[in-house]
Amino acid sequence: MDNSKIKTYFDRLAAEWDLHSGDHSETIGLIFDSLGSIKGKDVLDVACGTGVLIPEYWKREAGSLDCIDLSEGMLQRAKEKYGVLPVRFLLGDAQTYPFEKQYDLIMVYNAFPHFTDPFALVKNAARHLKDGGIFAIAHSMSREELNRVHCPDNIVSCMLMPMEELTALVSTELTVTEAISNEQMYLLVARKEEKR
Ligand SMILES: C[S@@+](CC[C@H](N)C(=O)[O-])C[C@H]1O[C@@H](n2cnc3c(N)ncnc32)[C@H](O)[C@@H]1O
Repeated sequence: MDNSKIKTYFDRLAAEWDLHSGDHSETIGLIFDSLGSIKGKDVLDVACGTGVLIPEYWKREAGSLDCIDLSEGMLQRAKEKYGVLPVRFLLGDAQTYPFEKQYDLIMVYNAFPHFTDPFALVKNAARHLKDGGIFAIAHSMSREELNRVHCPDNIVSCMLMPMEELTALVSTELTVTEAISNEQMYLLVARKEEKR
């Protein structure tokens, strides 16, 4: 798995992505409910793709929204759909990107198995969270269902790790406050502890 293959893969899929992504609005609502209010908060959507979550951030009155993706094609679709909104679109690798600000919420939605170095992603997210900020890794389907799609020999994704493994990984940087892995969703929520 390497970033150039991942980028090419999603660039090719971008035009048709929304036709096949399905309606996960109910689960998305539950995921956001578990994060607390984001009203007025500074939000970063990591691996935003074509911007499927942008209406949700907007509906919940986020204060500012930055969206990053590795694929120019996916990001271009997001810009076409939501460019009129005050959203900052960033092209790059979220594992190493030097974001110029810190966020109240960093969300990775339906994208975690595509990261070549999950630990680097977690570390970079922790670095760019405000004290008390929230990091979320979420999927609107079960781990089993997702792993059927991302079979072991896939060159653009790896298998989604068991929740215990993800909890251990994220706990090296942040305090995990919620970990759910059931038939409807896979969700980890973690907080950056406030400095005393
Ligand atoms: C399965 S798509 C999901 C997109 C969107 N979150 C959604 O739910 O429709 C995965 C996305 O992850 C992006 N991606 C993969 N590796 C990335 C990286 N290192 N940094 C930023 N984005 C990345 C891909 O370009 C792609 O748009």
